[in-house]
Amino acid sequence: MEKKNLDWANLGFGYMVADYRYVSNYKDGKWDDGEITTDANITLNECAGVFQYCQACFEGLKAYTTEDGRIVCFRPDLNAARMADSARRLEMPVFPEDRFVKAVEEVVKANAAWVPPFGSGATLYIRPYMIATNPVIGVKPADEYQFRIFVTPVGPYFKGGAKPLTIKVSDFDRAAPNGTGHIKAGLNYAMSLHPIVQAHKEGFDENMYLDPGTRTKVEETGGANFIFVTKDNKFVTPKSDSILPSITRRSLMEVAEKYLGLTVEHREVFFEELKDFAECGLCGTAAVISPVGKIYDHGKEICFPSGMEEMGPTTRKLYETLTGIQMGEIEGPEGWVHVIME
Ligand code: PLP
Ligand code: COI
Repeated sequence: MEKKNLDWANLGFGYMVADYRYVSNYKDGKWDDGEITTDANITLNECAGVFQYCQACFEGLKAYTTEDGRIVCFRPDLNAARMADSARRLEMPVFPEDRFVKAVEEVVKANAAWVPPFGSGATLYIRPYMIATNPVIGVKPADEYQFRIFVTPVGPYFKGGAKPLTIKVSDFDRAAPNGTGHIKAGLNYAMSLHPIVQAHKEGFDENMYLDPGTRTKVEETGGANFIFVTKDNKFVTPKSDSILPSITRRSLMEVAEKYLGLTVEHREVFFEELKDFAECGLCGTAAVISPVGKIYDHGKEICFPSGMEEMGPTTRKLYETLTGIQMGEIEGPEGWVHVIME
């Protein structure tokens, strides 16, 4: 199979129309068989539920080419399970988890020419999502839905790649207590657009959201969880019911403990503690692990000892081990690397 002729090493995190997508529709209480199609456009009624009350959720995962030429993806079963949780919270029908994983396999196989080569620095981003498709005007769940997966080759989420980021403590809240912060609902991202545009205008890379109840604890950014390393080399990551249970973060907790022998603390993290940490990073499918050098809090700066030039040493080990597992260079725990094409 011949790869597309793209400048893989210089891709940003953007959308490119690949050849194929997967589509399945839900009607009369059941999902149809689903199929791979070439049409990148969706035609919907003007009153479709997704347009009126934002009944939409999504997922994100990546496919990689390994050194020996296989195409693999990372823990797609966890994306399937999280999307099922999102659907239940939004009163949408669950797309069966086994079918989710099969659909990911099908759409990646169909687009094998778009999976960036090993060592190129790029990956294939896979975006499964679900939307309410029939007209809804009274506030209630729709009856018809579409589940779709498209793929697009991507480079680093943050411009500058591994350069440490500067994060602003946001005055806005991301997710209400008992709200939807723990699921991947489109509405969580709509609300983050104004704060991120403001943060960018002020020269910051991302926002740190605090817990809305007390504004004393670290939650997450608009698109990634936080990880911290203490001066005595413990791995610390915030626990909260209103942050997205990142698959990358859950994997890093295991990597830190089992591969690097670190003590792992998954607990409430108070903003007051940040000044005492040695390293800070963001983690997620898009962010992978992006180091944070500085946090800006209303005129005060918290500068991590790892500095603004490179990743801290433990963050680097975590990054190398995780990406080594994802690209098939390091043996991962059972079931983490899901082979799509040999
Ligand atoms: N937090 C938010 C708000 C996100 O959008 C994402 C991205 O999916 C993450 C965290 C990271 O989650 P994951 O590691 O499963 O990609
Ligand atoms: C992902 O990491 O997959 C996300 O959905 C985050 C988003 C900021 C692109």
